[in-house]
Amino acid sequence: MFGGKQICVCGYGEVGKGCCQALKGLGCVVYVTEIDPICALQACMDGFRVVKLSEVIRNIDILITATGNKNVVIREHMDKMKNGCIVCNMGHSNTEIDVNSLRTPELTWEKVRSQVDHVIWPDGKRIVLLAEGRLVNLSCSSIPSFVVSITAATQALALIELFNAPQGRYKADVYLLPKKMDEYVASLHLPTFDAHLTELTDDQAKYMGLNKAGPFKPNYYRY
Ligand SMILES: NC(=O)c1ccc[n+]([C@@H]2O[C@H](COP(=O)([O-])OP(=O)(O)OC[C@H]3O[C@@H](n4cnc5c(N)ncnc54)[C@H](O)[C@@H]3O)[C@@H](O)[C@H]2O)c1
Repeated sequence: MFGGKQICVCGYGEVGKGCCQALKGLGCVVYVTEIDPICALQACMDGFRVVKLSEVIRNIDILITATGNKNVVIREHMDKMKNGCIVCNMGHSNTEIDVNSLRTPELTWEKVRSQVDHVIWPDGKRIVLLAEGRLVNLSCSSIPSFVVSITAATQALALIELFNAPQGRYKADVYLLPKKMDEYVASLHLPTFDAHLTELTDDQAKYMGLNKAGPFKPNYYRY
């Protein structure tokens, strides 16, 4: 049960924001840590308490990292956690939680089941480490097939574009997908919801300076 649990989410970027909203919806008391004052202010104005990890570490039931950074949670923090605290990471690699610092002789590791370890302190305190600090949602759960369909369709279109592109259009670099491609993938998935998209009138398209068939937003637009 999540209701009433105290949870600290480190990082209030795209991933942290999603985690916080979901946890808030489940009735959790959510704390946020941030280094960026803009994201911190966003968290405050979204109704979350922005704290230093050290302020809440003794009370929290779950700790989630979502920063993309390294050593956000270190042994000093884990020494102070309460018995049963669940520790996991939503970031891209296993650098956010200093898991190596838990591989010392005085701590015992007990595998509870696949992707779930209890790390036990000499006084009997246990923390629950998920996926040994690797990406928790890929390790401990599955992604809905509908979401896979969206990302797989987008990736397939990107590969087709790469295959068909004349030589020289793309260098070995990172490119943003054209908005039109994302819009196309989204439109393919709308019928699942029986969603009916509104079409721009000629007059509206002219007023907005848009093509009626898209793209509907400039490349820099963040949804
Ligand atoms: N789990 C998933 O499915 C999934 C999906 C997308 C991205 N990711 C990964 O999640 C991580 C975060 O992605 P994002 O898109 O939210 O990035 P982001 O840059 O939007 O957000 C990260 C936030 O963490 C903050 N931060 C950095 N160091 C910090 C620290 N020491 N303490 C507290 N806050 C700190 C940054 O200021 C930033 O606001 C990345 O590693 C990314 O690759 C995971």
